[in-house]
Amino acid sequence: MAKLAINGGKSVRKDPWPEWPVFDTGEEEALLGVLRSRQWYSAQKIKEFEEAFAAFQGARFGVAVCNGTASLEAALVCCGIGAGDEVIIPAYTFQATADAVLRANGVPVFCDVELDTFNLDVRAAARLVTDKTKAVVPVHWAGLPCDMDRLEDLAARHRLAIVEDACHSWGSQWKGKGTGALGNAGGFSFQLSKNITAGEGGIVLTDDEALGRLIRGFVNCGRGLEDPWYHHYRLGSNYRMTEFQAAILLVQLGRLEEQAARRAENAAYLNAQLSRTPGVHALAEDERVTRRSYHIYQVRYVAGECDGPPRDRFIAALNAEGVPCWGGYEQPLYRHALFQRRGSGPEHCPLSCPYYGRTMDYAAVNCPNAERICREAIWFGQRLLLGTQKDMGDIVRAFQKVYGNRAQLKEHA
Ligand SMILES: Cc1ncc(COP(=O)(O)O)c(C=O)c1O
Repeated sequence: MAKLAINGGKSVRKDPWPEWPVFDTGEEEALLGVLRSRQWYSAQKIKEFEEAFAAFQGARFGVAVCNGTASLEAALVCCGIGAGDEVIIPAYTFQATADAVLRANGVPVFCDVELDTFNLDVRAAARLVTDKTKAVVPVHWAGLPCDMDRLEDLAARHRLAIVEDACHSWGSQWKGKGTGALGNAGGFSFQLSKNITAGEGGIVLTDDEALGRLIRGFVNCGRGLEDPWYHHYRLGSNYRMTEFQAAILLVQLGRLEEQAARRAENAAYLNAQLSRTPGVHALAEDERVTRRSYHIYQVRYVAGECDGPPRDRFIAALNAEGVPCWGGYEQPLYRHALFQRRGSGPEHCPLSCPYYGRTMDYAAVNCPNAERICREAIWFGQRLLLGTQKDMGDIVRAFQKVYGNRAQLKEHA
């Protein structure tokens, strides 16, 4: 019996994992080029990046912005979401998905997710549609596209806008078409942890030219596009990207395809190997997904199915074996204090304001799958998937060792 590293034994792995972000002289030269050009603000690099990224996703138009949260807000506002409109979003996502709805003065309506994909459960979404529902925001979670066939059908039946939270899905495709412009518009993030990054950054994609023009004006202080500089037409904001960000992102985009292929190959290996450990469930794939990114690699670990230690103890033991992983979100979004607060008055708008005409009570929301996933998920950062097959073998060996010696975890619990 091997002694677990958490109990002082020798760890499966001591070597470092691939570092993130990846960069080389390409980024260095690109940054210096912008610096020396003195064109630090909205110029050629942004235009080039907008065109290149939109083309990569198969969208007609791209508008670069300062981050993913702003990309979603811009898309929602320009799709006409306003005071008191309900917007269906998954309960298992990052806060930014809900923030964008709130910033548009909309009311987030939390929907449960599928246990085997962690994506919006479109059947559950159908039950949440009311006369106030104006849009739905599918999050292509961890890079796996949501079931867009079902979602498009739902949106068409109820005349809902689809704004994709594509902040994890650079390169992902649904039936051959890239995410981002599968619905009306979609937003991407290029924050540091993301699979292409400039530290911060974002872009909105759309196939709709008029919508693209609205978005471009919104993120540029509500200006018109060909009008005098100090003419402002609508409430917008300054959500512009810098030339430095665009220059780095152009270089990062050049590596994306090769990196995405490597992550996908390693994820397929892990799916096959890790699900051989009792209690460990790989997530489902869908053959309509013709390419996908892996922003996070995840499995579900169900201690009760395998006489195993609690999830967090299992994770601590994996960490000690030299495998970095964690449990991800501790609670579905609706459980955060922001949503659990009660009251009325302007500070509670848009959740209880005259424009809404109703009061949203998030204390009554319960999404059982999202709750369960918060207890059962194990997350691995995307940088691990840039490793070699031997690196993936270390992850598998760590799982086998921890599970095989689980009695030691109980003894020391
Ligand atoms: C699902 C999701 N949506 C939106 C965002 C917001 O992106 P940003 O951090 O660039 O504002 C993130 C960022 O982590 C995210 O994970």
